[in-house]
This record gives sequence, C-alpha cells and structure tokens, in this order.
Amino acid sequence: MMTAPQKCIRRLLAGGLFVFCMMSSSTTPSVSAQAYPPDRARGKAVYERHCQICHGPTGRGDGPGAASSKIPPANFQKFQSFLKSDEELLRTIEHGVVFSPMHAWRGQLTDGEMQDVVAYIRVLSEQAR
Ligand code: HEC
Repeated sequence: MMTAPQKCIRRLLAGGLFVFCMMSSSTTPSVSAQAYPPDRARGKAVYERHCQICHGPTGRGDGPGAASSKIPPANFQKFQSFLKSDEELLRTIEHGVVFSPMHAWRGQLTDGEMQDVVAYIRVLSEQAR
C-alpha cells in the first residue's frame, strides 16, 4: 500500500526523471532512450527469452538461475531500481555489471531490443506499485 504523500513524491520523481532523460539525450550515448518508440510487447518477448531465467517472471530477481548466482539478480520491483533512469538501466544492459553474472548484452541484442526490454522492465516495476 502507498500513502498519498508517497504517491505524490513518486509522481514528482517520475516527472523529474523524464526531464532528466530528455536533457541527457543531448550527450549522445551509443544507445539513445529516445531513438525508437519502445515496444513493450517486443520487450516482453526479449525478457522472457533472455532475462527471466535470472530476474524472474515478475522481475523480482527470483528466476531459476538466481539460485546458482552468488550475486542476486536485480529485483526490478525495488524502489532502488525503479528510481533509476531509462538511460541508467540501458547502460547496465548494454555493458553489464563487472564481476557479476549480468554480462553485457551489446552484440546479442539490437539497440531497439535493449530499449524495448527497458520499457518492459518499467511495466514490471509499475506492477509492484
Ligand atoms: C545470469 C543471470 C542474469 C541474466 C540472464 C540477466 N541478468 Fe540482469 N542482472 C543480473 C545480476 C546478478 C544483476 C545485479 C548485479 C549487481 O547487483 O551488481 C543484474 C542487474 C541488472 C540490471 C541493473 C538493475 C539496477 O537496478 O541497476 C538491469 C537493468 C538488468 N540486470 C537487466 C537485464 C536484462 C534486460 C536482461 C536480459 C536481456 C538481464 N538483465 C539478464 C543477472 C542476470
């Protein structure tokens, strides 16, 4: 359950992050969050094929692959993940996390697929709110 002030803070943050994304797109990262209209349905397919094994069907980091992983896969439903900008999530997917089973997906996924999967991660994290 979320109290009214929490909801309000969330809206403010979501708005702020959106502005932040708009501004940071001028720094020309290798994949821009705005380059394609992200497609959640395509993102879901990518997620189910490549990510669910670790991050779990609902994004809570409880997929079957999580048990054998020393570093627990990120739980996208946690506020900590939710607060990250699309750019930050995209960077992690693109380059991976050093010394963790989360490897870089650049080369395996297209720019569009990476953006779609971020859009789908957002759907999963929304579901927890
Ligand atoms: C082999 C297991 C594994 C697979 C497969 C995997 N991940 Fe991860 N992922 C992890 C782990 C472990 C972490 C956490 C690393 C850490 O906490 O330092 C992580 C972290 C992340 C993060 C960072 C979240 C945050 O809050 O900073 C994102 C985004 C992410 N993964 C997306 C994906 C996507 C998208 C896919 C599929 C294309 C994927 N992962 C596939 C294990 C995996």
